[in-house]
Amino acid sequence: MDKVIKPINKINAVITVPGDKSISHRAVMFGSIAKGDTEITGFLTGDDCMSTISCFKKLGIDIEVNGDKVVVHGKGLHGLTAPDELLDVGNSGTTIRLISGLLAGQKFNCKLNGDASIQKRPMNRVIKPLSAMGAKIKSTNDGYAPLEITGTPLKAIEYKMPVASAQVKSSVLLASLYADGETVVIEDMPSRDHTEIMLNYFGADIKNENGRITSTPVEELYAKPVTVPADISSAAFFIAAGLLTPNSEITVTNVGINKTRTGILDAFLEMGADIKITNERLAGGEPVGDLVVKTSDLKAITLGGDIIPRMIDEIPVFVVAALAANGTTVVKDAQELKVKESNRIATMIEELGKMGAKITETDDGMIIEGGQKLHGGTTYSHLDHRVAMSVAVAALNAEGATTITDADCVGISFPNFYELLESLR
Ligand code: S3P
Repeated sequence: MDKVIKPINKINAVITVPGDKSISHRAVMFGSIAKGDTEITGFLTGDDCMSTISCFKKLGIDIEVNGDKVVVHGKGLHGLTAPDELLDVGNSGTTIRLISGLLAGQKFNCKLNGDASIQKRPMNRVIKPLSAMGAKIKSTNDGYAPLEITGTPLKAIEYKMPVASAQVKSSVLLASLYADGETVVIEDMPSRDHTEIMLNYFGADIKNENGRITSTPVEELYAKPVTVPADISSAAFFIAAGLLTPNSEITVTNVGINKTRTGILDAFLEMGADIKITNERLAGGEPVGDLVVKTSDLKAITLGGDIIPRMIDEIPVFVVAALAANGTTVVKDAQELKVKESNRIATMIEELGKMGAKITETDDGMIIEGGQKLHGGTTYSHLDHRVAMSVAVAALNAEGATTITDADCVGISFPNFYELLESLR
């Protein structure tokens, strides 16, 4: 599907965006290995989370989906059963990496694969630590999916993370539930901690002391209701739209504002953005708030270090904001962008380039001259949902209309993205 996005004059709206992708995945996975029924509300029914549901159904778990309400009839830590067929993770890196850890210590074998993009995303980052735990996991494609797992007893390890990745950390923590002792994961830079929060909520024993994360196996996990907050990664597109569009005010309600995810707010605030968090509260152990955003004159900043993992998925839309800022923005320490659903350094530079943007690529990020006025053009999503949505945000303040080809990939994380965008007019 092609999508045409026309410029917008002004935004004045109160909106809600769909549920958090990371938390939705985890609610299904951990609900499946908890005893009892996990009732999930605010579940993201995007393609990625539906891939997770499909995998757990094949692992013998009964899951009911009714709009954004999902009930997972969990069978406990040792209740999964051997799948009859391949587990297809679709486009979802979170699914393949987390369930690899979860399946490594089971008493059965399985095969995992996904789409063309998944088959280009590095899996050695989980194969290595899981193998150190004694897992029998192998790639039949030189470090990429397909993966074959032969379930086997696991041993506890101490693992220092070579990259900041919540997917790798979570994979090891899930394997640790089936290990013979205390597993330690050490992270230099904090990555999202939804796994630690939700596993503990279900009865696991995971402690984090200054980045030294210790997991002690427990006998059983127990189901509990999960309320999924709105995804800050999805909210980010509308925050940026509000900041960049003249005379605008937009409120995004009920957004998850876990500190490991709010790098984008910190970056925008440092640029001089007018963003206020109101109505702060806790929902299921996760902090939530409403974000009130007003048009702002942004100034350039240098982005690097600890903030990068705290906003890794929002960097594409951050780049769109940086193009409008005053001064030169530098993004560094962001090599991880190269191994996302697309190489997001290359794809963002290429697609925004078609709209007139001049961005210089560096080894670990990019240099963005601010004050660039964009024009419409024909762009391509690269089948990457966040590239498509970032280009759509750029198009709102470009001169003339912009076409995005293969635009329906937004369904991965934000099925009603275009409808919500159009509703702002
Ligand atoms: C995710 C972790 C991040 C993020 C992805 C979701 C998660 O990936 O980019 O969209 O749910 O754990 P990495 O762990 O590879 O950084």
